[in-house]
Amino acid sequence: MEGTHLDMKNKTVLLSGGTSGVGKATAIGLASRGAKVIILSRSGENGKQALLDIANATGNNQGELLISDLSLQSSIRETCAEFKRKYDRLDVLAHLGGAIYWEKLITKEGIERMFAVNVLSHFLLTQELLDMLKESRPSRVITVAGNPRFLKKPHIDFEDIQLLNHFSGMRAATQTMNARILLAFEWAKHLEGTGVASVAFHPGWVKSKLTRHSPWYLRMMAPFMNARAGDDCKPGVYAASAMEIAEANGAFLDDKMHILPIRHNYDIEAGPKLWRVCEELTSGQWAD
Ligand SMILES: NC(=O)c1ccc[n+]([C@@H]2O[C@H](COP(=O)([O-])OP(=O)(O)OC[C@H]3O[C@@H](n4cnc5c(N)ncnc54)[C@H](OP(=O)(O)O)[C@@H]3O)[C@@H](O)[C@H]2O)c1
Repeated sequence: MEGTHLDMKNKTVLLSGGTSGVGKATAIGLASRGAKVIILSRSGENGKQALLDIANATGNNQGELLISDLSLQSSIRETCAEFKRKYDRLDVLAHLGGAIYWEKLITKEGIERMFAVNVLSHFLLTQELLDMLKESRPSRVITVAGNPRFLKKPHIDFEDIQLLNHFSGMRAATQTMNARILLAFEWAKHLEGTGVASVAFHPGWVKSKLTRHSPWYLRMMAPFMNARAGDDCKPGVYAASAMEIAEANGAFLDDKMHILPIRHNYDIEAGPKLWRVCEELTSGQWAD
């Protein structure tokens, strides 16, 4: 489905994950449509390289970089304050970054790292930038999701949501994916009637560095998998720029950009429960 794309020339997009994989592919797609793309990266070097690559691929050199470590709430809050100082609108907030680690690590703010990056960063970024999203309406928040084939019975273990007791990289990847998708649906409920839409989308198979922290046998498979993966991310570009998405608050899009009723696969009480967990875990104020 190609859809009717908005004119992105006067649109400001803030995107996590823009240095690699889904985020970079989507950033290139949106920059080629004329958007001003601001990428969040924890590394100045990766971020500057990504801006160069985006400009070279698209001829659009409006791209800018904000340094932010998504595992730390203090860093996210600082970045959001900087964003608000520098820019006067936010048309698309794109949660496209993510990480899989095979070892448990508790950040200095007391949160398990994968839960912090893959779930809490989405909650906090959206919350901190909400006023700006509302002022720029119609605007949208888009969230990268997993393959809908694996979302038939999404389960979140609220007894051990950060997997502090029984951590495994695979379980954390699945649980944080289920939670971030549910969070996108929960935001949709909270955003109803505000002119800000929240959608989740499956990006298809995009070249990635996601296995970089994995055991050697998975790292060895990465080149073969990447050889078959795509360079672009049409679903990400569609979610960020298709006109019809403005009316699709709460939708889940598959990689053919069709809406699937995934939100009904979740336990009805899970969304509000997850919301409370996110509120609680982001209620402390951390300073560097
Ligand atoms: N690729 C696919 O085909 C595919 C398919 C379905 C779902 N997904 C999902 O999409 C998400 C991204 O995957 P990907 O393939 O794009 O992975 P990737 O190539 O490894 O890119 C991950 C991005 O996230 C950023 N990131 C990670 N930790 C960060 C942190 N603490 N602070 C700031 N930025 C951080 C990385 O930035 P740095 O440069 O700082 O490392 C990088 O830009 C994952 O959740 C994955 O499950 C991907």
